[in-house]
Amino acid sequence: MARVCAVAIAVLLGPVLCRNLPEDPFTKELYVAVGSAVEVPSVTPRDGSLLQTLFLRPGYPPSRPQVKCWSPSYPKHALCSWGEGPEPLLPTRYTATYETGLRWGHLLQPCLPVPGLRHHCQLNIRMYHQDAHSINVTATNPLGSAYTFFSFMVEDVVKPDPPVDVTVVQDSKAKTLSVTWAPPPSWSSPAFFPLKYMVRYHTGNSKTARKLGPFLSPAMALKGLRGGETYTVQVSAQDRLVGQSSDWSPPVSATVLPRGHAGQR
Ligand SMILES: *[C@@H]1O[C@H](CO)[C@@H](O)[C@H](O)[C@H]1NC(C)=O
Repeated sequence: MARVCAVAIAVLLGPVLCRNLPEDPFTKELYVAVGSAVEVPSVTPRDGSLLQTLFLRPGYPPSRPQVKCWSPSYPKHALCSWGEGPEPLLPTRYTATYETGLRWGHLLQPCLPVPGLRHHCQLNIRMYHQDAHSINVTATNPLGSAYTFFSFMVEDVVKPDPPVDVTVVQDSKAKTLSVTWAPPPSWSSPAFFPLKYMVRYHTGNSKTARKLGPFLSPAMALKGLRGGETYTVQVSAQDRLVGQSSDWSPPVSATVLPRGHAGQR
């Protein structure tokens, strides 16, 4: 007597349905839904005792990692990150190597893991190098491997982290808010690679936000505001010569005191 087992579909560790068939004792049929993981017990035909359990994990070979690179600590390092996929995820190992210059494969170096950040690596960059930096990120899982080869010019990917310690306080003058901030701590040397800043602010709906700047020092005043209104302020940073603007800092709000209360907190 053979047993035919149909595995309950789409149920993680679902029950195994078995049926006796008066046929070939060595034939077994299994039905497994893509996307489910199942444990399949295998039993001896004679007394039904357990021989072993097979753990089935359906999945796919890895897709090509979607790689992006940017440099929040110019001119020291660049970071690269990548997504993973496709679902359902199988255990996947990533290796990343990089090189500076034209002849790929000449002097490959490992792109080093970043503590605490999954799917990121860090590489050393060379300022104003006339050739691209290139990185190869390879994803390998039990079903195969795939790689993405990505090249970039350092000065194009300079992108600071957002400014920090943004404060917004009522100025001693009426209808004015003083905004101050500090450069992103990850930026390696604000003295040699000075930043410029943009400030955006809005009341109510962020779609009505107005942008001011660039400011070369970490302070500015929002003037001509309406008393009693709450303003939300964000700041972004950019190298003065190259690269892209940072993301906006987390929003900070302050309410302009109504007329007659100026100077009080
Ligand atoms: C990227 O790395 C993988 C694994 O080391 C390798 O098989 C592949 O050929 C490399 N791609 C390029 C363009 O060098």
